[in-house]
Amino acid sequence: MTAYTARAHTNIALLKYWGKADQELIIPTTSSVSLTLNEFYTDTTVEFIPDLPDDEIVLDGKLLSGSSNQKVIHVLNLVRTKANITTKAKVISTNHVPTSAGLASSASAFAALAGAASKAAGLNLTRSELSMLARRGSGSASRSIFGGFAIWNRGTNDRDSFAHPIDEDVHWPIQLLTVIVNDQPKEINSRVGMQSVVATDPFYQAWVDHANAQVPAMLTAIENHDFQKIGQLAEANALQMHAQNLMATPAFSYLTDTSWIIIRLVQRLRQQGLSVYATMDAGPNVKIISMPADTAKILVALKEQLPNVKTTVATPGPGLEIIKGH
Ligand code: DP6
Repeated sequence: MTAYTARAHTNIALLKYWGKADQELIIPTTSSVSLTLNEFYTDTTVEFIPDLPDDEIVLDGKLLSGSSNQKVIHVLNLVRTKANITTKAKVISTNHVPTSAGLASSASAFAALAGAASKAAGLNLTRSELSMLARRGSGSASRSIFGGFAIWNRGTNDRDSFAHPIDEDVHWPIQLLTVIVNDQPKEINSRVGMQSVVATDPFYQAWVDHANAQVPAMLTAIENHDFQKIGQLAEANALQMHAQNLMATPAFSYLTDTSWIIIRLVQRLRQQGLSVYATMDAGPNVKIISMPADTAKILVALKEQLPNVKTTVATPGPGLEIIKGH
């Protein structure tokens, strides 16, 4: 059978997904809104090979085993069921999302896997169907099928929980400046973290109601290219998400002292008239939503306070592409 290679880019949530209504199907409790990034992506090649005894998954040159392997096999199984085949597959995946970029690669990885595996199995899925499939690997991957701004409508079941494009071709200045925080705390992965919050946070339902109510305001802000409003909503939503982690039992936080130094710096720069806003995911790195014209000023302020800090800049990027089929 033919091998196909797909490329998908990472995305950053401006309104976060933080909790599942259905663990198995990965149906979220809230809709989430994201920006796909140009600089960071995953290339994945899938080939279904008759007589291959088992799925073989190679990530960045290493044969995978354990739980990441299980998630990949889970998506391959869904593809096999749809295509009515039992053939095992060889999957070769390369991340162009350096760990040093401070961004997660699971969104781009599962979006690329959905694209390459479905093509290699002879399926011609719509982008909505690809988004549903990517979602089953990792929720945030549902949004990486699309470029620019996307919304993952939470839906209620396997067939209505998928992402939609909002504005795929973003031609106005918005960027994400990631500040890499080195003092990594003990890792609680996002799946475990959100599960604990859903199960134990007494304020969780209030967060869900509030987060869902932020969605229409964010859509209007994106439609109007209203940078300030997008930033305000994104920063509030991120801080509210992180507050839920402190409400869980046991309480936990991804944010370190250095994260807070950066968050406060962003707030100070705003008081000085700059349009900058912070967002944080399941880790200590702070991403500064900003405009390219302000990069130099942000970097000067950062270096003053944290001289050794590393940064990367990312701009809006494209959706899933099949880059090779042979
Ligand atoms: C904080 O998509 O990694 O980045 O569906 O369990 O694989 P699973 O979780 P995942 O969670 C992402 C959480 C987040 C917010 C977001 O991207 O919306």
